[in-house]
Amino acid sequence: MSSIETTRLGTGGPVVGVQGLGCMGMSEFYGPTDTGEALATLERALELGVTLFDTADIYGSGANEELIGPFVRAHREQVVLATKFAIERRADDPAYRGINNDPAYIRKAVDASLRRLGVDVIDLYYMHRRDPDVPLAESVGAMAELVAAGKVRHLGLSEVTGPELREAHAVHPIAALQSEWSVFARGVERSAVPAAVELGVALVPYSPLGRGFLTGAFADAGQLGAGDFRRNLPQFTGENAAGNAELVTPIRKIAERLGATAAQVALAWVQQRAEVHGLTAVVPIPGTRRRSRLEENLGATRLVLGAEELAELEPLAAEVSGGRYADMSSTADAREV
Ligand SMILES: NC(=O)c1ccc[n+]([C@@H]2O[C@H](COP(=O)([O-])OP(=O)(O)OC[C@H]3O[C@@H](n4cnc5c(N)ncnc54)[C@H](OP(=O)(O)O)[C@@H]3O)[C@@H](O)[C@H]2O)c1
Repeated sequence: MSSIETTRLGTGGPVVGVQGLGCMGMSEFYGPTDTGEALATLERALELGVTLFDTADIYGSGANEELIGPFVRAHREQVVLATKFAIERRADDPAYRGINNDPAYIRKAVDASLRRLGVDVIDLYYMHRRDPDVPLAESVGAMAELVAAGKVRHLGLSEVTGPELREAHAVHPIAALQSEWSVFARGVERSAVPAAVELGVALVPYSPLGRGFLTGAFADAGQLGAGDFRRNLPQFTGENAAGNAELVTPIRKIAERLGATAAQVALAWVQQRAEVHGLTAVVPIPGTRRRSRLEENLGATRLVLGAEELAELEPLAAEVSGGRYADMSSTADAREV
C-alpha cells in the first residue's frame, strides 16, 4: 500500500496526511482495549502516511495521552500531535462531565497533557467543548498565550458554531475545526462549515463512521458490551436503531457496486465534502484499535464517489432518528440559532 497524500490544516497550519487516526477507542469507550495492537496500529499508520494523531486529556482520564506518548516521542518530527482540553471528569462519578474554559484551567490542563505525553510542545491544541459562560475571547486569548509560550503550535476548536468560529479566529488564527461530520451527522453544515470556508479553517470530522454504525459493525446498542459508551446514545437504541440500521443499507449497496466496503464509502463521502463546500481541507480521523481496519480505512483515500452515489447518500441524514448524544447541551447544535 502506498503512502497517502498530504494537505495543510488552515492557512498557516500543519501539513498532515489526508486521513488522520482517532486514538480514543484505544483506551476507552468502545469495548476492550489491546495495548500491543494499538501500538502496532499507530506504527502502521505512520508507515502509510498518516501523520495526524488525535487524542484528548479525557480519553481514559489521561491514559490515552500516556499510551501514545512513547510513540509520539519516537517519531516526533513526523507526528502531528493533536490533543484537547475543556472536559472535566470525576473519579467518583464516571458519568460526570463538566465543561471548563477558564484561562487558569487551560494553563493547568496544557501542562498536564504535556507531562502525560512526555513532549515539549503540542502541535494542535483544541478546545474540546465550549462553555458559553466564559467569554470566548478570554479562552482563545489564553490558548494564544500558550502558542506564544511555545507550549502549543496551532489552535483548534471542537463543536462550535459559525459565529463562535469567527469570534475565535479574530483573536488568533484557528487551524482546524473538529466536529462530528458523517453521512448521518450533518449539523456542522448549518453555520460552521460556511464560516470555515470563509476563514480558510480546515475541517477535521470526528466519528466519520458514525462510531462504527455506518459500517454495519453493529445495528443496535444491545449488541455492544456492558460498558460501551455507545449503549447510551439515542441513535443506537430501540426503535431509533432499527430505523437507522435500515438507512445503512444504501451505503452497503453502493459499497458492493464499487467493490469497496461500507466504511470506505462513508469516509469517501466525508473526504469529498471539501470539494462540495469549497473547504481548503477536510481530514477525517476515523478511530480504530486495529491495523486491519486502519488499512481498510486508508483505502478510502483512493475512492471517489460519483454524482449518482452522492445523490443516494444525500437524503439519509435528514431521516436519522435520535440524538448524537444523550445530552446535547454542550454540542454546537444546542447553540445554533
Ligand atoms: N471532538 C470530539 O468531541 C470527539 C468525539 C468523538 C470522537 N473524537 C475523535 O474522533 C475519533 C474518531 O471518532 P470515533 O472513534 O468516535 O468514531 P468513528 O471513527 O466513526 O468509528 C470508530 C468505530 O468504528 C469501528 N471501525 C473503524 N473502522 C472500521 C471499519 N473499517 N469497519 C468496521 N468498523 C470500523 C471502530 O472499531 P475498531 O476499533 O474495532 O476498529 C470503532 O468502534 C476518535 O478516536 C477521537 O479521537 C472526537
